[in-house]
Amino acid sequence: MDLLIKNKVAFIAASSQGLGYAVAKELLQEGCHVIISGRDAKNLEYATQTLADFGKGKILALPGDVSNEADRNRMIKASLDEFNTVDILITNSGGPPSGNFDQFSLDDWEAAYHLLLASNVALIKGFLPQMKAQKWGRIVAITSQAVKQPVDGLILSNSVRSAVSGLIKSLSNELGAYHITVNNLMPGSTETGRLQNLLKVNPSFKDNIKNIPLGRFGQPHEFAAAVAFFVSERASYITGTSLAVDGGSIKNIL
Ligand SMILES: NC(=O)c1ccc[n+]([C@@H]2O[C@H](COP(=O)([O-])OP(=O)(O)OC[C@H]3O[C@@H](n4cnc5c(N)ncnc54)[C@H](OP(=O)(O)O)[C@@H]3O)[C@@H](O)[C@H]2O)c1
Repeated sequence: MDLLIKNKVAFIAASSQGLGYAVAKELLQEGCHVIISGRDAKNLEYATQTLADFGKGKILALPGDVSNEADRNRMIKASLDEFNTVDILITNSGGPPSGNFDQFSLDDWEAAYHLLLASNVALIKGFLPQMKAQKWGRIVAITSQAVKQPVDGLILSNSVRSAVSGLIKSLSNELGAYHITVNNLMPGSTETGRLQNLLKVNPSFKDNIKNIPLGRFGQPHEFAAAVAFFVSERASYITGTSLAVDGGSIKNIL
């Protein structure tokens, strides 16, 4: 199926590795131009080199921290200076630290707010005017299965990401008139650096596999394929939805 997004410009936050990187690769393969980001300039440079094999689209690499206001503003400006518009926005960041309620101070909660919620709000604010003006846009927030079913030991993620889901659903109501779709994609346990770190801190996390009907952790390309469809022209009637890419791990009926 042709996803009909050739030459679209996609900003993929936090994409030098992991899920964001897999999404950038997938969108390059679909003929998009991609803007990638991450804090570590060396990782970002390596990502730029390896991604170049997957498409002919331009790759703009912008070092920066999505939880930092000045960095976000710089990345938004550089993207618009280069491409004039961003058609597809994938919001993403690294995950907050694992731990239980007693382990976190109010400062930790505030940091999680900046990392997860403020980064979404600010990136959407930055790119929305152009999407509205061109009456076409795609916004996908990468959250977590934790917004449907809390994951033990991830209280910051479980709590603050739910606000992102509320933001995304609310925005889908406001932006339909501009042909902008806004959706929430919820990865389950997927084999990236983040999962390796969680397994290092808590090796028994691996036991969660027995609760996954497909019997294994996911691969980043499996998540990226779902994102590519959601940001495509083919998904033009899908907005305000939360899709789990979790091997069936969430137990709710809906
Ligand atoms: N993988 C899973 O099983 C899973 C499941 C549910 C939810 N999630 C969530 O999905 C998101 C992506 O996960 P992942 O598995 O791809 O993580 P990952 O393997 O740790 O990769 C994170 C990527 O984001 C960049 N990054 C991290 N913090 C950043 C920041 N503050 N500003 C800009 N870039 C940043 C990293 O580069 P730098 O370190 O150089 O910045 C890296 O490129 C996370 O929020 C994670 O919690 C993941």
